[in-house]
Amino acid sequence: MILPEKLQHKLDVREKNNTYRQLKTTRLPVDFCSNDYLGLARSAALRNAVSSELEERGDLLLGATGSRLLSGNYAEAEELEIFLADFHRAEAALLFNSGYVANSGFFSAVPQRHDTILYDEASHASIKEGIRLSFANAWSFRHNSPEDLEPKLKRATGTVYVAVEALYSMHGDLAPLEELVSLCRKYGAYLVVDEAHSNGIYGKKGEGMVAELGLEEQVFARILTFGKALGAHGAIVAGSSALREFLINFSRPFIYTTALPLHSIITLKHAYKLLPEMQAEREALKTLSVYLKKVLGEAGNFTLNSGETPIHALGGINPEKLTELAQALQKEGYDVRPIFSPTVPEGQECLRIITHAYNTTAEIEGLAAIFSRFS
Ligand SMILES: Cc1ncc(COP(=O)(O)O)c(C=O)c1O
Repeated sequence: MILPEKLQHKLDVREKNNTYRQLKTTRLPVDFCSNDYLGLARSAALRNAVSSELEERGDLLLGATGSRLLSGNYAEAEELEIFLADFHRAEAALLFNSGYVANSGFFSAVPQRHDTILYDEASHASIKEGIRLSFANAWSFRHNSPEDLEPKLKRATGTVYVAVEALYSMHGDLAPLEELVSLCRKYGAYLVVDEAHSNGIYGKKGEGMVAELGLEEQVFARILTFGKALGAHGAIVAGSSALREFLINFSRPFIYTTALPLHSIITLKHAYKLLPEMQAEREALKTLSVYLKKVLGEAGNFTLNSGETPIHALGGINPEKLTELAQALQKEGYDVRPIFSPTVPEGQECLRIITHAYNTTAEIEGLAAIFSRFS
């Protein structure tokens, strides 16, 4: 059956603008793209621990068989939630099937009609999705700008929620969490922090940025996801026990979906057992991230975000040159991705480069050599 004309037109526009998205299965040898920051997705220790437990418990169901409120709840899931709450120093935690589901499940359910959500304009699509599904009022504030947030906090009505990411997925910069906490305290607002990219890589044991800064008590809820540094899949909302009860009762993306299967729960249990011991990987990640910034900074006239984070957004290149640069890098085996609108606003197109604990200085230097050809 042919696609309705309006839809075909939208696809044609994407093709014309060079923004057509396509799925690819090719893997390039040098990973500057995945979110596997610490290498847990490829860790033999994790694979062996999970396989042994699965083998020992040979009769495990392959699927959860239902939602958590029906046939899909298991002691293992509840034990994991208690463990994760303790690990992240929260009163309680509730598992969701992914970070996308956790964000949409939180923001669609918690802020009520006449409440206000103030969200950083660079927030992830899943936060915006939840906000779209909510009956509350919502205004964005300028990226990482407490100055723009404050007047909005003054004007906001009802219960006020402020939504930010600890480490921004596209910009690669950190939120000024301490300043945001004091502003929220001043105006009685509830701070919600998405820790998708900071979970596992900050904190002494990888507990995340809120824990690294000791702000657990000041943050109303944290969304901690497992598809990135934890190398697995799923997410929790960490907060109070009452918040957990509320989400179990009112969060439709939690209620009306088949729960995570037991093999995911077991993988998460083992990934979290390894995480505290991965300080060397966290250090390597930081060192390589700083080195990449230095070397790329010297390679040419590009703009790079600041900070020691593993997400590097290289801007100041027009979309055509960006495509050329990305293709040249990919041809040499470097997996890097150009990011175009609508993922980022027009004019903010960039090349996103992710460092990992398993990258090498030689790989970074090889990348820089190609960059210098384009400067
Ligand atoms: C900031 C942020 N929040 C949430 C998500 C969604 O997490 P998940 O991939 O587990 O659905 C992502 C994923 O890219 C993200 O970058």
